[in-house]
Amino acid sequence: MEIIKDVKIEKLDHFGRGIIRDKGIIFVDDTLPEDVVDIAITKDKKNLKEAKVLAYKKRSPLYRESLCPYHLHCGGCHFSELLYEKQLLYKKEKVQELIEHMLKENLVVKEIIPSREEYHYRNKITLHGKDKKIGLYDKKSNDLIPISHCLLVDKKIDELMNRVAVFFRDRDALVYDVMIRKTTLEEAMIVIHGRLDYEEFRKEFPDVKVIVINDQIVTRDSHIKEKLFDKEFYISNRSFFQVNRWTVLDLYQKIIDYVKDKHFNTCLDLYCGTGTIALLISDFVQKVVGVEVVAEAIADAEENKKLNGIFNVDFVLGKVEDHLNEFDDIDLIIVDPPREGLDKKTKNSLSDIRAKNIVYVSCDPVTLMRDLNDLKKLYDIDEMILFDMFPNTYHVETLCFLSLKKEI
Ligand SMILES: C[S@@+](CC[C@H](N)C(=O)[O-])C[C@H]1O[C@@H](n2cnc3c(N)ncnc32)[C@H](O)[C@@H]1O
Repeated sequence: MEIIKDVKIEKLDHFGRGIIRDKGIIFVDDTLPEDVVDIAITKDKKNLKEAKVLAYKKRSPLYRESLCPYHLHCGGCHFSELLYEKQLLYKKEKVQELIEHMLKENLVVKEIIPSREEYHYRNKITLHGKDKKIGLYDKKSNDLIPISHCLLVDKKIDELMNRVAVFFRDRDALVYDVMIRKTTLEEAMIVIHGRLDYEEFRKEFPDVKVIVINDQIVTRDSHIKEKLFDKEFYISNRSFFQVNRWTVLDLYQKIIDYVKDKHFNTCLDLYCGTGTIALLISDFVQKVVGVEVVAEAIADAEENKKLNGIFNVDFVLGKVEDHLNEFDDIDLIIVDPPREGLDKKTKNSLSDIRAKNIVYVSCDPVTLMRDLNDLKKLYDIDEMILFDMFPNTYHVETLCFLSLKKEI
């Protein structure tokens, strides 16, 4: 194994890995810019090498001690050793670099809005199971590392994780996977797959409103409820919901402010999940239609419409790409796709509809830049704002406002 001593990490790549460039390109996990390290090359392919740290000779001024005992193994956090304000700077710089390299536009990221809390922000965790243990996969070996605490999740979720771990440890039962979710209204949900006594599990968790075992709801309730501003939202097992309890409010507030200012009549909320954005903007527009592919999420959205006494929103179940050509004469289109971004058919339909404005919410800046490259033929990119939805990871949420070019 090739060993290189006393090398300095230059910067971080888009996945939070350290890069050394003066000896070919070497990616080094678990390092920060300006760390001085001894490394061993673990992979050598053409000009790209990967290495692991043998020793830290001098730690970076950006370094802090991680509070998480699992941080060197668990793939959930990438940045628990990077000072929080430097995490924000890193995310802003990475998106700015992508604008320059992929979009080639004269556009400056306006700001990155920090998470109100750096820890305990997540309202959901999904853990893997193996035999009697729950945990996350080791980022290097892919083995299960049993964990019973996580610094990123809500404290009640952390407590429930621990109790689930104890439940399986002490019984003749097996766990394959478990998802735990909790709202700010203190309603919790556990979704579990495994071999276990359903009634025993339900009795052990009387404080959990919804329990789903092997796709069967074993509690009276099938939804937990969340409150965002003055509206309430039911969330069921298979529905998406934004994961950061605070940043979701900051993100949606920016969209509401934008809509309030512009006086739109007709709007589309594409990839609408439980209908949150459509219902939150409904007070300020004439009509909104939401489109979403997950049937349970659309059922939640319909319930949420009734729950909040809203009459000017419709929801359509199906794929955006299959329904978009049904719409014309639209003022505003909001898109919030999964990481893969928008497909070709969707982008073609967007070009046909030519709404006055598009709001693009993205959780992957690379696919966002690819899509903006296509959309910029018709649209000016007016503003880009980042939200730190996922502190201590390299992920970032982007909100982008577009307007139809004047000459079109
Ligand atoms: C990032 S989430 C956004 C949800 C919602 N806007 C929110 O803020 O809660 C993306 C959503 O798109 C849905 N989805 C994925 N592919 C889709 C498609 N081709 N057509 C419609 N919906 C899709 C997912 O089920 C998910 O609910």
